[in-house]
Amino acid sequence: MHSSLLANLLLLLSVFHLVAAASEEAVPAANIEARQNPAARLPECLDYEWTANMSTIGANGSYRTVLLQKSNVGTIYNARMMDAAIKKLPKLTADRELNAKCSNWTAIALREAAANYSNGIVAQFTTEGLPVGIKAGPIVVIVVGLISIMFSVVWVFSP
Ligand SMILES: *[C@@H]1O[C@H](CO)[C@@H](O)[C@H](O)[C@H]1NC(C)=O
Ligand SMILES: *[C@@H]1O[C@H](CO)[C@@H](O)[C@H](O)[C@H]1NC(C)=O
Ligand SMILES: *[C@@H]1O[C@H](CO)[C@@H](O)[C@H](O)[C@H]1NC(C)=O
Ligand SMILES: *[C@@H]1O[C@H](CO)[C@@H](O)[C@H](O)[C@H]1NC(C)=O
Repeated sequence: MHSSLLANLLLLLSVFHLVAAASEEAVPAANIEARQNPAARLPECLDYEWTANMSTIGANGSYRTVLLQKSNVGTIYNARMMDAAIKKLPKLTADRELNAKCSNWTAIALREAAANYSNGIVAQFTTEGLPVGIKAGPIVVIVVGLISIMFSVVWVFSP
């Protein structure tokens, strides 16, 4: 009884692990074609790029409002995500090596966000890689909750 419960739990964990791994791979793949610079595919460059995009949107009231109103993943989650990007970006902007390697995404994000906005576009609703990353948030909470419940069930029914 216990062992089958644990087996199910492990199966559940590995399934989610696979789902998470697949989502992570989807982000760089979606970006490859858009890139001329091979270094732009490095994880730290994608991270810089994403942080710059989110920070730019979060810091401008007009962009931020659009994203919060149109998004279906939760205002609090998005607000926190953008605030975290705003906090993180200055250090990346000042990093000369990173900017030389990946190109200055702080400047690109500012320029592109304004261009997008004038075309009625704000970030994630047209960005293929992004919704995947955002959905990982709520799913993680649910999975962790589920796992906690299953572990306490095992604990309670143990002799
Ligand atoms: C960031 O914005 C740029 C410029 O609009 C876009 O090309 C890129 O796909 C975006 N990247 C991410 C990770 O959102
Ligand atoms: C990148 O661009 C931003 C905004 O234009 C600028 O403030 C920053 O100094 C630039 N960073 C580097 C390392 O050139
Ligand atoms: C926010 O973006 C709009 C549209 O691009 C621009 O007109 C405005 O100056 C920006 N506001 C700030 C505080 O940068
Ligand atoms: C601009 O729009 C493109 C798609 O139209 C999107 O991929 C990109 O992330 C947007 N950039 C910013 C900084 O919002």
